[in-house]
Amino acid sequence: MTPPVDGSTRRAVLAAGAGTAVAGAAAGVAWASRPAAAAPGAASGGALSATDGVVPFRGPHQAGITTPAQDRLHFVALDVVTDDPAALRDLLTAWTRAAERMTLGAEAAPGGTVGGGPYGVPQDTGEALDLPAANLTVTIGYGPSLFDGRFGLAGRRPEALRDLPAFAGDDLDPARSGGDLCIQACADDPQVAVHAVRNLVRMGFGVVAVRWSQLGFGRTSSTSTSQATPRNLFGFKDGTANLKAEEAAALDEHVWVASDDVAGGAGGAGWLAGGSYLVARRIRMHIEVWDRSTLQDQEDTIGRDKKDGAPLGQHGEFTEPDFHARAAGGDPRIPVDSHVALAHPDHLGGIRILRRGYNFTDGTDGQGHLDAGLFFVAFVRDAHRQFVPMQRALARADRMNEYVEHTGSALFACPPGLPDGGDWGTQLFG
Ligand code: HEM
Repeated sequence: MTPPVDGSTRRAVLAAGAGTAVAGAAAGVAWASRPAAAAPGAASGGALSATDGVVPFRGPHQAGITTPAQDRLHFVALDVVTDDPAALRDLLTAWTRAAERMTLGAEAAPGGTVGGGPYGVPQDTGEALDLPAANLTVTIGYGPSLFDGRFGLAGRRPEALRDLPAFAGDDLDPARSGGDLCIQACADDPQVAVHAVRNLVRMGFGVVAVRWSQLGFGRTSSTSTSQATPRNLFGFKDGTANLKAEEAAALDEHVWVASDDVAGGAGGAGWLAGGSYLVARRIRMHIEVWDRSTLQDQEDTIGRDKKDGAPLGQHGEFTEPDFHARAAGGDPRIPVDSHVALAHPDHLGGIRILRRGYNFTDGTDGQGHLDAGLFFVAFVRDAHRQFVPMQRALARADRMNEYVEHTGSALFACPPGLPDGGDWGTQLFG
């Protein structure tokens, strides 16, 4: 039986009740369904809610990249703490099974919550037992340090998987940067995303340890033309000019690693063809300063109108910005040092990126300010040819720099999607 991939099909499976085991043909696994009825946000009376959806786990590319951005994020970077390559490989294989099960709305392991009996340690932590799949996606990535020779993977490091350079104005905290591995869990229910990360971390005890993690809310980008553009914590629409899932040719050009990109050299990096690089930047936003600036200053900083998201001096959110238009005094209507002017492909040799970030608020900074900002996530075909020149241009001149500070940074290579029967361990180690 093929795993159900939409809410209505899955609901039929769920109707059989918790603990129902069904064969998952794709993974050769059985999964025990979590019941949906008691889920907060789940519709009653059989109607489907936004949280009912199931995103297919397998395919040519990993889910969670061009998947219409869900509302919540739990991102975790981990370090490998064993020196045994087989232990790492086995964990990646076990993670594949658990991740696929959880994206179907199932427990991390069959009967994981209570099926092991009173004397067993539960193989699922249980907090998502009554919740639907909520469009959960689990996306894995590997940092440059994973290929340093500890696990015999040095020959498989893609050439472009090397640390990002320092940028002007960076204030990076090493405790919020880097990592051997990352897991990006996105869902329309925060508890579902946290449950996924928690259970994968639990399974990795003794093999991996959490280095840093980030919760995010309110996606700050649309990644599909089917989505309305959300707003970030500056109150501006974010994602208007983003790459979208529907732009297949542009994704091939700017997001997916081509086989030619990873051919040659050491010859062992072909595993990344069809994958993508994930750039993560934790960007603190000094919102108290922003909140005291005038609307005019804010709009000149972004280069767009706050209400509609239109380029300054123009109408319509999706109108192409006219960087030649002049204001009455003769200055460019869209300031040359505005964020969109600097980040626009016309001024960067055609470079584009797929943005998939989230807002965050992590309490206070202890000095009466919110520790808030944007957890910037971008997917690119080559971070050094795309993100680096773009961020250099922004770091040098962006008016927004007065209000933001980059406090964390990491780069990961995300492998392509898995075919039926494939798993992350075999995919990476060969
Ligand atoms: C807190 C940090 C940031 C905020 C609040 C922010 C906000 C925005 C906003 C409001 C827009 C205009 C709407 C849109 O087209 O999406 C935009 C556009 C854009 N941003 Fe950012 N951004 C931030 C950081 C970054 C960073 C670090 C990069 C990349 C290095 C970046 C790259 C872009 C790009 C490529 C565009 C589209 C430009 C165009 O083609 O018009 N942003 N951003």
